[in-house]
Amino acid sequence: MQPLPLEIPADADKAIVWSNDRLYLLDQRVLPMQELYLEMQTAAATADAIRDMVVRGAPAIGVTAAFGVVLAARESYQAHGAGWREGIKSGMDCLAASRPTAVNLFWSLERMQGLISELDASDPEPTLLQEAHRIHQEDVASCRRLGDLGAELIESTTSVITHCNAGALATGGYGTALGVIRSAWAAGKIERVYADETRPWLQGSRLTAWELHKDQIPVTLLTDGAAASRLRVGGIDWVIVGSDRIAANGDVANKIGTYSLAVAAKHHGVKVMVAAPTSTIDMSAVSGEAIPIESRNPDEVLNCGGKRIGATGVDAWNPVFDVTPAVLVDAIVTEKGVVHSPNTKKITELMSS
Ligand code: MRU
Repeated sequence: MQPLPLEIPADADKAIVWSNDRLYLLDQRVLPMQELYLEMQTAAATADAIRDMVVRGAPAIGVTAAFGVVLAARESYQAHGAGWREGIKSGMDCLAASRPTAVNLFWSLERMQGLISELDASDPEPTLLQEAHRIHQEDVASCRRLGDLGAELIESTTSVITHCNAGALATGGYGTALGVIRSAWAAGKIERVYADETRPWLQGSRLTAWELHKDQIPVTLLTDGAAASRLRVGGIDWVIVGSDRIAANGDVANKIGTYSLAVAAKHHGVKVMVAAPTSTIDMSAVSGEAIPIESRNPDEVLNCGGKRIGATGVDAWNPVFDVTPAVLVDAIVTEKGVVHSPNTKKITELMSS
């Protein structure tokens, strides 16, 4: 990964940039203190960047992986010429092994693989690049569409709570949960956004607050543990979150802490909206039980800001996603439409529409 700053200012809508035949990622590990783009020269480096959280958020991982396949194709064509098919698989396997929960990664790789199987022996890069751009553009269009649909569900001006970062940084642009919030803000329906800080990577405080503050949308940070108390105070009609994988029955995998937020919302009569493109829906997962939940290094919990905070000898449990059962979800909002009180029948209908 080469730290090569681009001649563009850092922008949440430009977290993934393909410029002059090169792939650049805005390094989300160092935001908001540093605004730095890293160049990805290989598929393996792109996979490392996904695993190490340079780029994160389910749709953004999917878009990045598509450009990673373009790099894999380039490497393989340079090494094998007309026999490029031999080498591309290892790059794609590397990308597939980067993170397990966000299904958009596998959706994107399957889409690129579908195209690869139709190509002849000539240089595959131009065709694959076109497809990667298409995946990117479609994701932005989906976010805009679902953002508008989600905003329509908000009846009157209210404050909302969001968890993690489901914004432009986490997608091709505009955002899922933050897409709904952006559209609702434009319609005059948002008073204030409460952003859970989201331990241990602090996507809420570092990324969501940065994005919203830049857009001049009022944002207040909460520790994750403060969300239930804030719900109790009142004035919040909706919890709005994104998702990494939605099962066929409407169970929702999202950043750890979403489940406890949904439980607290139910207790306080606050509705829960999950905003996600249909590329996040995994019809092969019958329920949340079938969703693989990523466990990361306990050091992410035992340390903070590069300093050890856990007592010496103490261990930590670090699942980075949880599953919110469909019964706690009031609406799943996709670019194809809204599913209220989701279940298998309704999600199947949506996916076949
Ligand atoms: O570990 P992360 O930062 O990749 O987790 C991201 C989330 O949990 C987001 O809420 C989810 O991917 C939806 S992004 C539009």
